[in-house]
Amino acid sequence: MKKKKIFVGASILSTDFFDIKNTLKKINSSDLDFLHLDVMDGVFVPNISFGPHFIKCLKVRCKKIFDVHLMVKNPLPYIGDFVDAGADIIMVHCEAKNTMKSLRLIKKYNRKCGVVINPDTSYKKIKKFLDIVDYIMVMTVYPGFGGQKFLDNQLEKIQKISSYIQKSGRKILLQVDGGVNFDNAKKLVGLGVDSLVVGSFLFNQKNFSKTVLEFKKI
Ligand code: DX5
Ligand code: ZN
Repeated sequence: MKKKKIFVGASILSTDFFDIKNTLKKINSSDLDFLHLDVMDGVFVPNISFGPHFIKCLKVRCKKIFDVHLMVKNPLPYIGDFVDAGADIIMVHCEAKNTMKSLRLIKKYNRKCGVVINPDTSYKKIKKFLDIVDYIMVMTVYPGFGGQKFLDNQLEKIQKISSYIQKSGRKILLQVDGGVNFDNAKKLVGLGVDSLVVGSFLFNQKNFSKTVLEFKKI
């Protein structure tokens, strides 16, 4: 059987933004599939990061697919801004406001859409979005900060969601975000995960491109 393709994306949340030119150089010259951009409003999560203008500035300097993860209480009024900024994929949380309306709007703009689920939320919350989403992303840390420890207790949920996807018969990619490293990546792929977001582990390695390739070979 042909090995399935594993997509790997980098989260720049914990990198030094004054060194962004070098970070983008590394990203552009690697085999990374996408750039993962963590937008936080200080309400949905206890942290504030960056918004559409920052993403727009990156877009002209980076050729990768832009995956925008909205950790905001009400994403709906901002979807258009993130489309204008260059988002290719937009993900909204099932715990946020107007999730279904936001997903429909993202599709209207002809972008890929994803629904994200927090560690304390039941996998059942995902069910009603199976007909519309292109991605389901499981948080394996509490959203808000990079560099946290991977939550092993999310593995069962990943398995449950993976079988939901199979049963749906739709082409939905299962993505995981938070604390991903070489130790847990193999397990995740074994459970049916298609796409890995890697932040601090990736940027802490000496050889960025080699690490990306190693993740892709898992
Ligand atoms: C957490 C973010 C993640 C995080 C990933 O709120 O959504 O994307 O930055 O970074 P690591 O791999 O360091 O957990
Ligand atoms: Zn994220």
